[in-house]
Amino acid sequence: MYQHIRSAVESDFLAVDQFIVEQLHSEVPLVENIGHYIVEAGGKRMRPILVLLAAKSCNIQNDQHIPLAAVIEFIHTATLLHDDVVDMSSLRRGRPTVNAEWNNPSSVLVGDFIYSRAFQILVQIGDMRIMELMANTTNKIAEGEVLQLINKNNPNSNEEGYMRVIRDKTAILFQAAAQSGAVLAQADNQTEEALRQFGMHLGTAFQLIDDVLDYDGNSESLGKNIGDDLAEGKSTLPLIYAINESSKAEADLIRACLQDESVAQESLTEVIKIVRASGALDYTREKAQHQSKSAQSCLNQLPESEYRQALQTMLNFSTERNS
Ligand code: IPE
Ligand code: IPE
Ligand code: MG
Ligand code: MG
Repeated sequence: MYQHIRSAVESDFLAVDQFIVEQLHSEVPLVENIGHYIVEAGGKRMRPILVLLAAKSCNIQNDQHIPLAAVIEFIHTATLLHDDVVDMSSLRRGRPTVNAEWNNPSSVLVGDFIYSRAFQILVQIGDMRIMELMANTTNKIAEGEVLQLINKNNPNSNEEGYMRVIRDKTAILFQAAAQSGAVLAQADNQTEEALRQFGMHLGTAFQLIDDVLDYDGNSESLGKNIGDDLAEGKSTLPLIYAINESSKAEADLIRACLQDESVAQESLTEVIKIVRASGALDYTREKAQHQSKSAQSCLNQLPESEYRQALQTMLNFSTERNS
């Protein structure tokens, strides 16, 4: 399915990949080594493909979507380098994380390099509206990550707070990817708004499923460890739902895990069982489906094209994926 999404923009996609590699250039060897390590590990490249498809679906007449797609992937990559330090994760894209293979400072500092390289490229693109959009987006992502940090180990977090975190930390970058493609293509206001909303709903569905897969996925196909959210005291929707819908003893155990990571380590298998039995994963999947429906109605506002069809496939993949 994934190849099918890419194929609509294959030559542009290859140009983006080449541009990304070129832009990793640095006079400091460690920067380049780590840059290549994380970029060449792959990743799904969902966000840059979204930029390309959005721009193409609006009939873009120039090539600016190539560097723009690289900017979005760089911002994503930088957040991953930072995120894996914050989350103390050891596996990413099927490889040891940069913090595991090198160390925390290297991951943070090369993340900064990639972040700021993204803004250098943005200046080259030279579109003030896109610069404004990306500045606001990265600022929001940072807020989302901090918001999540504040909520860490909180046994009383609720669905509303969770939805705000996933909007800010994840959905907003999908939104920026889709909207900026439309802006570059000089789409009319209505089309730009439809793509903006599409990105937001797609990104929300994507993160909801990511949080399901942390309890129900396979580390090999996912390329990252499962059970990490619980181990680090992160209360995602599956856990919030399970606390509300399980017996008092089970809910108490989950709360204890959230508050004490050593309890979480010991009870990981049991809590995964409780979460699965509570119906929390179906509930979270339904929420993703709901987001997908909203995304669908945005998509229907675009003129029919092979690019719209690929966006459709991307949406289906995001809500049905296991990788
Ligand atoms: C990982 O994003 C971070 C989340 C928002 C869940 P992806 O799953 O898109 O990561 P890569 O780029 O494919 O590795
Ligand atoms: C990913 O968030 C980082 C951002 C969206 C900024 P998570 O911590 O939830 O995702 P994974 O599980 O590490 O990919
Ligand atoms: Mg993480
Ligand atoms: Mg995180």
